[in-house]
Amino acid sequence: MSLATKFPKNFKLATATAAYQIEGAKDLNGRGFSTWDAIRLEPGRILDNSDPDLSCDGLLKYKEDVALLAEIGVTNYRFSISWSRILPDGTLSTINEEGIKFYRDLCLLLKENNIEPVVTLFHFDMPLAIYDNGTAWLNRENCEHFEKFADLCFQKFGDLVKTWITYNEINCQAWGSIVKVEGEFWLCPERPEIENHKQAPYFGAANMLLTHAKIYRNYDQNYKPTQHGILGITNGGRFCFPATDSQEDIEACNRARDWLFNFTIEPILSGSGDFPVLMRERMPFIPKFSEEEKEIIKGSTDFIGINYYLSFLVRAPKDGEKASSQSQHDGGYVFVEGKWDKICGETWIRYAPDGLLKILRYVKEKYANTPVFITENGCMDIVGQDQEDAFHDQHRIDYISGHLEAVAKALDEGCNVIGYTVWTLMDNFEWDDGFELKFGLCEVDFESPDKTRTMKKSAYFYKEFIKEFKDFHGI
Ligand code: BGC
Repeated sequence: MSLATKFPKNFKLATATAAYQIEGAKDLNGRGFSTWDAIRLEPGRILDNSDPDLSCDGLLKYKEDVALLAEIGVTNYRFSISWSRILPDGTLSTINEEGIKFYRDLCLLLKENNIEPVVTLFHFDMPLAIYDNGTAWLNRENCEHFEKFADLCFQKFGDLVKTWITYNEINCQAWGSIVKVEGEFWLCPERPEIENHKQAPYFGAANMLLTHAKIYRNYDQNYKPTQHGILGITNGGRFCFPATDSQEDIEACNRARDWLFNFTIEPILSGSGDFPVLMRERMPFIPKFSEEEKEIIKGSTDFIGINYYLSFLVRAPKDGEKASSQSQHDGGYVFVEGKWDKICGETWIRYAPDGLLKILRYVKEKYANTPVFITENGCMDIVGQDQEDAFHDQHRIDYISGHLEAVAKALDEGCNVIGYTVWTLMDNFEWDDGFELKFGLCEVDFESPDKTRTMKKSAYFYKEFIKEFKDFHGI
């Protein structure tokens, strides 16, 4: 029995992109300025100092990209709608009809090609006016603007879109995109430090969780009965293993799981509607939800999206040891290197498909087998290799097939996995790494005016895999 035949007929085999990473056309057709337009103009923020206008031109080339998706044969395509392309200042004061037309045309073309859209409403790019209106998610008014944006999207695209994701990596948003926090990803514009900035990730997370839940309730009550879609939320899934069997390391590992994963999932999926108990014990200041809010948050999802790239080995800190990031400091844990291969060279990726299997088992046991959609999984080209070698990306094929095997095993054990997504369709803007790290199944020639896309060997591999899957099920 080949690997592809181990996946059930309704399983989604997808690939993904995000608006800011591919679209370009930042001033075109009424789009407003976003946080990332601002970040790219700040000297030294982007690793390769690339031109702030450089992109895949995905907005102009969407027809070509849909043809590429059809060639690979994916059942679903995950992309995000740029909030500032629809609402230039983030509020309903101006609705940009050209933005709406673009995403409708994209969805229509996808459907003509039998590809189901999976839409993320927030993938890291916030209208700058919203960010500056009281520091992103710290201001509840901004959360209400996002709820209205989501509602508008249900009205405008809900006939075409049947799978929605509110936030991409809500945990990463909390730590990286609200304020600059020591040792964390820095994914927001440079601004003067605010009061209590160390507490901002917790307050931001609480607001986002409530916002997500309100969007879910709105969809569930007002749109689902006629549109028949599902709505979930995506969390970064970096699973943690204890470095040794010692009690201290096991406890540190449990805390790391809370800080890195359960923090932004447990309120939704557990019966408590609240942050993990251990977190409340260590951080007495974290915001409290009212009973009414807990009721709104509890169970507010149809599935949980997980972006899985790697796992961590974790130990307890030694006496007086200084943590290298605030989350490690708050949670009381330290990462240990050496367990998994660096298959892309000296980068942050580790080849850890065992962690994917573990996290799927963990969700099955801890969260009552809630459906899981793996909304991202992938790796970059090997750093330092010749451009020509990038097309022969055997390491990526090994990476993807290793993780697909883990998913097949999880399915066999009864884990409720509903889909798998390769990140990403094509090389694109890799946030603060610029164009230095390339995750694409397809190469993009950024030097050519046409931004020519060319399938790498891994794209052919995925195409064959999906073909075998479809043939087996007679799709
Ligand atoms: C993000 C993507 C990003 C990828 C690789 C994920 O955390 O959602 O936007 O490109 O990681 O770094």
